Amino acid sequence: MKLLVTGGCGFIGTNFIRLMLAKHPDWHITNLDKLTYAGNRLNLLDLEKEEPRYNFVQGDICDRDLAMDLLADQTFDAVINFAAESHVDRSINDPSPFVTTNIQGAQNLLECARQRNISRFVHISTDEVYGSLGDEGKFMETTPLAPNSPYSASKAGADLMARAYFETYGFPVLITRCSNNYGPYQFPEKLIPLMYMNAMADKPLPVYGDGLNVRDWIFVDDHCLGIELTLLKGREGQAYNFGGNAEETNINVVKTLLAAVNKPESLITYVTDRPGHDKRYAMDYSLAANELGFAPTLDFAEGIRKTIEWYEANTTWLEQVQSGEYRSFMDTWYEERS
Ligand code: NAD
Ligand code: TYD
Repeated sequence: MKLLVTGGCGFIGTNFIRLMLAKHPDWHITNLDKLTYAGNRLNLLDLEKEEPRYNFVQGDICDRDLAMDLLADQTFDAVINFAAESHVDRSINDPSPFVTTNIQGAQNLLECARQRNISRFVHISTDEVYGSLGDEGKFMETTPLAPNSPYSASKAGADLMARAYFETYGFPVLITRCSNNYGPYQFPEKLIPLMYMNAMADKPLPVYGDGLNVRDWIFVDDHCLGIELTLLKGREGQAYNFGGNAEETNINVVKTLLAAVNKPESLITYVTDRPGHDKRYAMDYSLAANELGFAPTLDFAEGIRKTIEWYEANTTWLEQVQSGEYRSFMDTWYEERS
């Protein structure tokens, strides 16, 4: 199988490429990534140097000529679109790159892939397109989309565009909607790596609002297995939910992390809530379980243990991503909130 993966230098794409090349000796992957602040080419540098089945191309999914050329030059069996602006807080500061990459970029890629007769296109969407739940119930694939942040609105736009390409053109699109991922290579603007880094530096851990917002946490490899199953077994035109069956309040996540690294809860600092902050996400993934055979393999305690082990073994990676543009954004954001 020859795959074009976009956004592969980000968190989930990196894990997906590593896992799939290790698991499938006959798979070849080309990774198209713009290398934004969240894209780290060093994540996959060993593969670039030593793995002939891996190929890196720096470029933008909004670039029509590049996408048309790439899809013509090589006979890809499938495209998997991970590329996105992915951080809710950044989307609140400035929604426009979210519209450009997440909606226009996704549409450009869909159109180029359709013109090049690509036979399978997996679009990576998110549970956040559904909006927010109260105390009861779970999101199903039939739940109406009701996004609340500029990030989730842009992801909903792309999700619906992917659907339209199936309904209108019969283009073989599949969509995945997964809950919050955590694990190796996650950029430390997201909750778990941010809190780990602050705890290790004895810095305050900024918890938004009352800390009682709930997310369903999934270890990144389990999401990657769901994407693999969708690619290999999914029904064209279908969206599939994925989750970790691990609902936790933010404050529980932070306390679990602090206990694991033996740091005091006095580091926890409650800060002004995120505007439009979704209260609760929970996934009904019975469709993926029944049709694809999906089941998460790690519970939250095991997943957190593996993640911390990875951080401890990769201090250079953490130091490296702490430099540069990431820092200046975080400084301004938290200065305004304290
Ligand atoms: P990330 O921010 O870590 O990585 C995004 C990658 O996309 C980066 O490598 C970046 O350089 C690249 N990119 C951005 N704009 C681009 C463009 N215009 N052209 C080419 N490349 C571009 O994101 P992630 O957490 O790995 O998420 C990957 C996908 O999964 C996203 O579509 C996201 O919406 C979705 N998702 C994420 C989660 C989660 O918990 N992280 C959950 C569900 C779905
Ligand atoms: P995040 O990792 O940004 O993912 P998402 O917003 O896509 O779910 O945030 C996860 C939860 O953690 C969310 O409820 C917001 C909260 N949060 C904090 O309390 N403090 C922080 O500094 C961050 C980044 C997030």
